[in-house]
Amino acid sequence: MVAEGKCLARHNNMVIFVGGVAPGDVVDLRVTRKKKSFMEAVPVAFREYSELRVEPFCQHFGVCGGCKWQHISYETQLHYKQKQVKDNLERIGKVTLPEFDPILGSEKTKYYRNKLEYTFSGNGWLTDEQIKSGEEFDRNALGFHIPGRFDKILDIEHCYLQPAPSNAVRLEVRDYARKHGLDFYNAVKQEGFLRNLIIRTANTGEVMVILQVKYDDQEAILGIMKHLEETFPEITSLQYVVNPKGNETYHDLDVVCYKGLPYIHEEMEGIKFRVGPKSFYQTNADQAYELYKKTRELAALTGNELVYDLYTGAGTIANFVARQSREVIGIEYVPSAIEDAKINSQINDITNTTFYAGDMKDILSDELIARHGRPDVVITDPPRAGMHQDVVEKLLQVHADRIVYVSCNPATQARDLELLSEKYEVTRVQPVDMFPQTHHVENIVLLTAK
Ligand SMILES: C[S@@+](CC[C@H](N)C(=O)[O-])C[C@H]1O[C@@H](n2cnc3c(N)ncnc32)[C@H](O)[C@@H]1O
Repeated sequence: MVAEGKCLARHNNMVIFVGGVAPGDVVDLRVTRKKKSFMEAVPVAFREYSELRVEPFCQHFGVCGGCKWQHISYETQLHYKQKQVKDNLERIGKVTLPEFDPILGSEKTKYYRNKLEYTFSGNGWLTDEQIKSGEEFDRNALGFHIPGRFDKILDIEHCYLQPAPSNAVRLEVRDYARKHGLDFYNAVKQEGFLRNLIIRTANTGEVMVILQVKYDDQEAILGIMKHLEETFPEITSLQYVVNPKGNETYHDLDVVCYKGLPYIHEEMEGIKFRVGPKSFYQTNADQAYELYKKTRELAALTGNELVYDLYTGAGTIANFVARQSREVIGIEYVPSAIEDAKINSQINDITNTTFYAGDMKDILSDELIARHGRPDVVITDPPRAGMHQDVVEKLLQVHADRIVYVSCNPATQARDLELLSEKYEVTRVQPVDMFPQTHHVENIVLLTAK
């Protein structure tokens, strides 16, 4: 098992990357891509099945792109995630590493997500079995993209990722729309009325549903809204957005709240986090709590520290550690996330946080450091690309006692660790699994000033 959850095979000294298999499978392959140093292939026949295999529990496994690791046990998934972190840190990082802590597995391995986005399509994908059956199928689909295909949507009967009422709401909306002859979207022609459906389920029990449509047909919109309101009284925030654009992002559009409040709340240790239709919040909330607790533990806060929380998003980590810190400075690119971060401090009576919006390499400036002081602890949680080189250089210059580096991409984390090794030593490595049934892995590294 190697990067991106693919397996590696060798043939005549050529490396071949294969998806949809398990380590130990013996398979015939069809090469789909040939490069000088490697090939990519798909399995066409299985000669022997690996002992690591388990029966996938989802009827959509193999077609839907969502949970690519359901065919191996959770224990095996954790083993390979730990290995993925180790391989990356050793091969790319080239720094002295301590013994790794065992990966923190997620207690929930199903129904662990608090947010899903389902897409409508008037031309739903038919599986091989459906085609072979010769039956007629309703092609109006509501579900997930076929991997790598922006225009192909698999209609989903049951998804194991999000708790109730996610499945029931999706099926109800699909059936209502089919029954009332509403127009499902066509992504190629960019036509059609129904675009997507976003469902958020918070650990407080609050539920948000957002329907995205192409044009403002009030009769049709209000018909669905009313139907959802009556069928699911547990929806506490029912919203819609009219999006006439070519893409589905609605960050620049007005979201209309039809019923309830325009936001829901997640909660951790009594701290409430307000989550609006445009807010980012970690999608596995229970495991995010474990991630944050571990981050706070490694930061070794006593209440006297000045903490910088870089890439703070909606200020979740910043607010989470604020009560154990003297002062926390949070920095984040997206202005609306910073607005959320400030609100999250206010509604929890947290008064020792300050937030700034902007590009990290510009905001984390000498002037900012002069204003707030040299941090004792830096917590950094950058996007997959890792930190900009200017940011790494600034961290070397600032020279906080400790850096807690949270990452969703151990390859870029390893690159940054090597740059930081000029002045820091890696003293703890703690992989965390936020996304069971997928190859994704999160990793926390504690760097201590030399
Ligand atoms: C992995 S998320 C961090 C989430 C946050 N720590 C949490 O736990 O909710 C990375 C964040 O970095 C922000 N970001 C990406 N590029 C940035 C940049 N150049 N400057 C500042 N923030 C950036 C993204 O908007 C995103 O909110």
